[in-house]
Amino acid sequence: MKKSLFTVEPISVLEETVLEEFHAVHRHAHGFDFPADPPVCRASFIGQIVRPRPGQRISVWVAWGDGHPAGICVVGLDDNNPLKGADLVFLSVHPEMRRQGVGRTLLSAAREYLGGMGVKKLTAFTSSSAEIGPGDAFAEATGAERVARYRRLSLNIADRPRKDGYEVPVGYRLARWRGGVPAESLAEFAAMSTRLAEDEAAGSGRGAAETFDAEKVDGLYAVLRAWGLRTYITAVRHMESGLLVGYSALGMASSHDRDASQWDTVVLPAHRGQGLGAVLKEANLSWAREHEPELSRVTTWNAVGNDAMTAVNESFGFRADAWGSVRIWSW
Ligand SMILES: CC(C)(COP(=O)(O)OP(=O)(O)OC[C@H]1O[C@@H](n2cnc3c(N)ncnc32)[C@H](O)[C@@H]1OP(=O)(O)O)[C@@H](O)C(=O)NCCC(=O)NCCS
Repeated sequence: MKKSLFTVEPISVLEETVLEEFHAVHRHAHGFDFPADPPVCRASFIGQIVRPRPGQRISVWVAWGDGHPAGICVVGLDDNNPLKGADLVFLSVHPEMRRQGVGRTLLSAAREYLGGMGVKKLTAFTSSSAEIGPGDAFAEATGAERVARYRRLSLNIADRPRKDGYEVPVGYRLARWRGGVPAESLAEFAAMSTRLAEDEAAGSGRGAAETFDAEKVDGLYAVLRAWGLRTYITAVRHMESGLLVGYSALGMASSHDRDASQWDTVVLPAHRGQGLGAVLKEANLSWAREHEPELSRVTTWNAVGNDAMTAVNESFGFRADAWGSVRIWSW
């Protein structure tokens, strides 16, 4: 391959016209690596840079090759606790500019900046339709440790009958919302999220659990709306205690009419074993289909080793079609 000259520089998140040019690079890269996927959504890409999650600060570096946009690296830092480590939000190199050191140079620029602030860790999620794709090979070559492995599963719902007849177990009732959690349910949704985070923290032994309040939940869904995402949530209430005890959420990018991402489906431990997870998933899918007549594919990510969740998804008709890894550079 012909070697091109390239330069790397930081840019401000306010340079939206430049970001537009690099959205084209990211879209091209994604289309190259995932030819069967829909094009990445512009609003979602730009939104994640200009309107980050509450408490996250974004830094961007771009690479120009012979005057053309060649690659982009976007890093997010937790404003309240930057030393916790940074997240790699995007690192994309145009397919025609790959294997020339663009990715390595973008990563070095980010690491130098982070290192200067005392940050010593950068976490990325790499994905590919191949078991070892370019992102994973790159991460390996640049010294990132793999800490978790994931599979993406896709459900072709076009040839799946709509099941509106799911049975909610006795003593529970469902609530369905679009676009976020309504104001009157924010506090109880936040309380459930805190209990779920406590359960996860206890199970993983990873220390203090994240806590949620109404404002935080509202802020998170406001950000998803700003990224153009249409969200569908089905939550389940335990009638005797009056508490929400689980939910399932799904999102669709603003430029996508056929493809959705299945996010969390979680049930508090005391309420497991009654099929609530499957009911939530089924009910939420049918809720989304009511409003999204063209919806035909849903994708989700499962940790390799989470056999229970994989089995639930496979029984729904989800089939594995891509690989993912969480990778960490530390220095
Ligand atoms: C991963 C990606 C950013 C790499 O960009 P790049 O500019 O091609 O990377 P570099 O040229 O700096 O590669 C550095 C080293 O990584 C390894 N590497 C990169 N891509 C590879 C591939 N497709 N196969 C095998 N090794 C690869 C090589 O060891 C390479 O050094 P070499 O070319 O001297 O052998 C690019 O392929 C991409 O945009 N992929 C899609 C998005 C993605 O996966 N992002 C990464 C998240 S960590």
